Amino acid sequence: MKKELRRAVIAGNWKMNNTPSQTKALIEQMKPLVADADCDVVLCVPFIDIPAAVEAAKGSNIKIGAENIHFKASGAYTGEISADMLKEAGVEYVVIGHSERRQYFAETDQTVNLRTLAAVNAGFKAIVCVGETLEQRELGYTETLLKYQTKMALTNVTAEQLKNIIIAYEPVWAIGTGVTATAEQADEGNGFCRAAIAEAYGADVAETVTIQYGGSMNAKNADELVSKVNVDGGLIGGASLKAEDFSIIVKAASK
Ligand code: 13P
Repeated sequence: MKKELRRAVIAGNWKMNNTPSQTKALIEQMKPLVADADCDVVLCVPFIDIPAAVEAAKGSNIKIGAENIHFKASGAYTGEISADMLKEAGVEYVVIGHSERRQYFAETDQTVNLRTLAAVNAGFKAIVCVGETLEQRELGYTETLLKYQTKMALTNVTAEQLKNIIIAYEPVWAIGTGVTATAEQADEGNGFCRAAIAEAYGADVAETVTIQYGGSMNAKNADELVSKVNVDGGLIGGASLKAEDFSIIVKAASK
């Protein structure tokens, strides 16, 4: 395992939180706290907050991401957003296939794949989420499911495009519940995702892919989670809404 081959990425996923003015205030607060990070720092924010976020983050090491992207270039897709729109707004990262999108907005492995292709074809870095439910874990399907979701998401993605993909392993039962996967469970889940990439692209390529853990990662548990060989940073929900907590996680990933 070659953790040093991979750059850790700490990404906040704000979900449906913060107005544009709150966005500006929070990023201003975060900037000095994460300025000396030795990892990539990303904030994925609601669409309406993107202009304020891009403006506030200008000249800092914080990169801005969106929480979704549509697979068509334009057209009759009410409520969706295109690659061109995000590009022009200054977005660099896109979250794809979050379990909340899969659960509440009928996102499937097929649409996750199409969105992933749209993102990398447009030159974004895609943070592609996979993860099992508690029921699937208890039935013993975690490995099968993580490998399936990872491979499905990456269908028709070339090895070259894979350089712009980050996988985020987010066990559904650990999201927003305060129940964190143990560091061993996170490492194992991330390892299953890496094994799936190895099966599709070869072991050497798989060693270069950044795989984050997400699910109740916070200022207290980040150190232990990111120390694991397969955990290359995190996708942070609740704790990314607090400047101090988020910066502690960034520091943990910078060691
Ligand atoms: P929490 O950190 O709030 O559990 O959310 C994790 C997540 O879903 C990040 O995408």
